Amino acid sequence: MTSTSTDRAAVLELLRERRFAPSILAADFARLGSQVAEVMDAGARVIHCDVMDGHFVPPITIGPLIVSAIAGQVHGAGGILDVHLMIERPENLIAEFARAGADSITVHAEATPHLHYALAAVHAEGCAASAAISPGTPSLAVSEVTDDLDMVLCMSVSPGWGGQEFIPASLRKLARLRDLLPDHVALEVDGGVSLETAAGCVIAGANLLVAGSAIFGAPDPAEMYAKLVAEVEAK
Ligand code: DX5
Ligand code: ZN
Repeated sequence: MTSTSTDRAAVLELLRERRFAPSILAADFARLGSQVAEVMDAGARVIHCDVMDGHFVPPITIGPLIVSAIAGQVHGAGGILDVHLMIERPENLIAEFARAGADSITVHAEATPHLHYALAAVHAEGCAASAAISPGTPSLAVSEVTDDLDMVLCMSVSPGWGGQEFIPASLRKLARLRDLLPDHVALEVDGGVSLETAAGCVIAGANLLVAGSAIFGAPDPAEMYAKLVAEVEAK
């Protein structure tokens, strides 16, 4: 966590509230700063950064350089950087992403034989620690580390690409996760979240909803952000 980042209590509060986390994966990288400003002006406070290494998942996306490029802007506007590592052996790069300005770091349970160690490494850097599970991984994969978690990320598509269709069975998995996790552990859902699928995710127990193409693929990302918020408000 860098000097520009947000304090831990504020980070945990933002992760535990019901809100949408725009994923910059679907943003226009030629004007990343203004895309981030658009959604933050609309009320977004959790900016989701998808890191892919070409090994754990086929694509290569962003690294610490891009995270640090937007860190000042996001923190300055009262937001946090939610870094989703889709990389093999994530424990090796945690310190680097923390230095880049990450506030929460998510590691995939499938990407390391040492999940407990990786979560401890995230905490040691002063960041909120989260474990992600892909669609084929049972919810029980996180059951032995609940004491070490601030959040669980439930993938509702296979990791690696934006714009995929929401997997309906994810709703039952979200409910199982919500049952097994202590109340203070946030539950994030990632993949295929849209006006059609968001409410179901909230009803199933998710509180933090990642949305990439739904927001940045819309003609007006700020307007779509507001529509999504309204969609889950009464749930
Ligand atoms: C996929 C990423 C997601 C992605 C979601 O591997 O983890 O965060 O950006 O994109 P949409 O919302 O388009 O499904
Ligand atoms: Zn993600």
